Amino acid sequence: MAALGIEGSYHPPRILVLYGSLRDISYSRKLALEVERVLSAFGAEVRLFDPHGLPVFDRSSDDHPKVQELRQASIWSEGHVWISPEQHGSMTAAFKNQIDWLPLSDGAVRPTQGRTVAVMEVSGGSQSFNAVNQLRILGRWMRMVVIPNQSSVAKAWQEFDDEGRMKPSAFRDRVVDVCEELFRFTLLLRERGDALTDRYSEAKQRRLQGALTKGLGV
Ligand SMILES: Cc1cc2nc3c(=O)[nH]c(=O)nc-3n(C[C@H](O)[C@H](O)[C@H](O)COP(=O)(O)O)c2cc1C
Repeated sequence: MAALGIEGSYHPPRILVLYGSLRDISYSRKLALEVERVLSAFGAEVRLFDPHGLPVFDRSSDDHPKVQELRQASIWSEGHVWISPEQHGSMTAAFKNQIDWLPLSDGAVRPTQGRTVAVMEVSGGSQSFNAVNQLRILGRWMRMVVIPNQSSVAKAWQEFDDEGRMKPSAFRDRVVDVCEELFRFTLLLRERGDALTDRYSEAKQRRLQGALTKGLGV
């Protein structure tokens, strides 16, 4: 951290990794596990969320244990990695469902706002960027800082060995680049998230509500 000129907390950056597939042989899951290994080697504390059992978003199952687990993991995190397969030129429903369960704010608690996020995709065909482009927009909507670098692993079925490790390749080098960039951005931006997401229009709204509750007749 000293090399980056960063002062402040010294705990390992806390990174939540989300992936978007429920099938047994899932390359987005294999990539998520590789990302976990790489980020851990950089010194991060990493949690991987297993999307199995998460209900379909219905705006009412907030007490479901998987919903609670996902929200707690995001509140704990200082940065995310989002990895979706590309299906029909889009991110998967299994991926989007996870983000739909994360509220932008729940009272004073903001599970995603101000955090960093790196976006990645796996695909079966030749290299494509449809899912990462959508994830980038989704990160903006969740008021996160989407880092510039990203990874798209084409023909993902030929990029992992029998142990599930990613084979040496330009794709893997890129994954390490993205993890390194996320690690640095997270060190720089954590603890500044509240200041960075504080908006004039919302502060104005809060002042207005405060005046109303004090009975100033606004
Ligand atoms: C219904 C369906 C649609 C797909 N559409 C695309 C696509 O648009 N572009 C592409 O490159 N691969 C496409 N694929 C291939 C997947 O991206 C690939 O199988 C990927 O590994 C799936 O993620 P998973 O291994 O984590 O389950 C599609 C696969 C399925 C089953």
